[in-house]
Amino acid sequence: MNTLDRRHFLKSGLLAAAGASLAACVPMARLRQTDQYQYTLTLEPAPFELIPGTQTPGLGFNGQYPSPILRAKQGQPLTVTVINKLDQPTTIHWHGIRIDIAMDGVPFLSQKPIMPGERFVYRFTPPDAGTFWYHPHVNSVEQLGKGLVGMLLVEEADSPDFSPSEFAADLPLMLKNWHLNDDGSFKPLTIPRYAARMGTPGNYETINGLHKPEMEVPANRWVRLRFANVDNTVMYKLRIKNRPAFIASIDANPLPRPKKLKHHTIGAGMRVDIVLKTPPAGEEVIIQNGKGKLFFDFMRLKTVQARDGLTGDAPMPRLPLNPLPEPDLANAETKRFVFEWEGAVTPADDQGKANHKFWTINRRAWEGMSADNIPAPLATLDLGKSYVFDLKNNTPHAHPIHIHGVMFKVIKSNKKRIEPFFTDTVLMAKNERVKIAFVADNPGRWMYHCHVIEHMKTGLMGYIEIR
Ligand code: C2O
Ligand code: CU
Ligand code: CU
Repeated sequence: MNTLDRRHFLKSGLLAAAGASLAACVPMARLRQTDQYQYTLTLEPAPFELIPGTQTPGLGFNGQYPSPILRAKQGQPLTVTVINKLDQPTTIHWHGIRIDIAMDGVPFLSQKPIMPGERFVYRFTPPDAGTFWYHPHVNSVEQLGKGLVGMLLVEEADSPDFSPSEFAADLPLMLKNWHLNDDGSFKPLTIPRYAARMGTPGNYETINGLHKPEMEVPANRWVRLRFANVDNTVMYKLRIKNRPAFIASIDANPLPRPKKLKHHTIGAGMRVDIVLKTPPAGEEVIIQNGKGKLFFDFMRLKTVQARDGLTGDAPMPRLPLNPLPEPDLANAETKRFVFEWEGAVTPADDQGKANHKFWTINRRAWEGMSADNIPAPLATLDLGKSYVFDLKNNTPHAHPIHIHGVMFKVIKSNKKRIEPFFTDTVLMAKNERVKIAFVADNPGRWMYHCHVIEHMKTGLMGYIEIR
């Protein structure tokens, strides 16, 4: 069992034992699921065990981490009743879903905050299939940092060309790097000096709440690995060490042609679905995470004989494309956005409180928002028109830039050759300039921010209005 802790093996083995999907068993058990796509999520203080033998005073959905995995279906209504048992307001945002603005879960822009003791019912029909996630959009450094992050898997609509069961295993893999002391208590989730730079990284790496887990998968079969970076800060540079693998989908959107994986980096908020054919029984798949030029083992998949009676020579299952509107580049209007850094100014006041203006978009930091103070949008877009956003990162740090309410197409970068792809979050390297395009087809006021939570909280956020 190598360096892996036996408990981890048991826990993850248990998860995998339920069959094709480890997600379907443990977390679902505690959901009060009254209908096929109806869930209740209670946000509450929750002690959980991350470092074996210790307790972490986290915040949990239904008191647990990993959080319940919500399964929905493309084109079918989903209802989630959210109950706030925290001592602070909250909302839930459905990251990546092209949703009605009233359900987007941003305080004041789309709804009133859900106060302690209150509940709110979210109802929407996901138009796209793929790997999504959910999280509060209030006091995010703490609420997300302490565990309120979960995955939302939207299964592909029934079609003659694809059935999710073409994958012998479908593993949601939720990546989070916790800020923990050895006794399981929290370290500071944010430190101004880091907030003004790459963000405050955690120190205890987990996949579905486990450090370096080992999971069982059927041998000699196609499996789908859904990586979701639900961390507040860090990037993951993913690689499969010893097997060929393919990028099937980026931020929920399948690529027209799966791309051979060398390594792929996902910033905070981003997802990637990787498919691979597992080796014969008894062999392992080693998944690694890169830091700088080096790669480190991160998790293992142990193969066991498949019991499905199939031969194992099926071709790679191909995910159907999402029904996204194609931007009309010839007639698109261009809007420019410059991301800048003011981190050189004193990063904290005398009380050690962070200065809330390290970062700006078009020279503006978020001016603070409340019911009666909503700043002007960063841009106002005409409903139905195509736009190109010309994004310039004039900072020495990477930023995963996210827009709510739409999927956009990344079409150009000054740093690398781009094969255009649809996404909801684009990772911009330092000094990178990227062009994205989309159809402004969803009316509302949509958040537009960096998903490094401390960057967003210290200026790198705004919103666009489509009307
Ligand atoms: Cu995960 Cu404002 O978003
Ligand atoms: Cu979002
Ligand atoms: Cu950022």
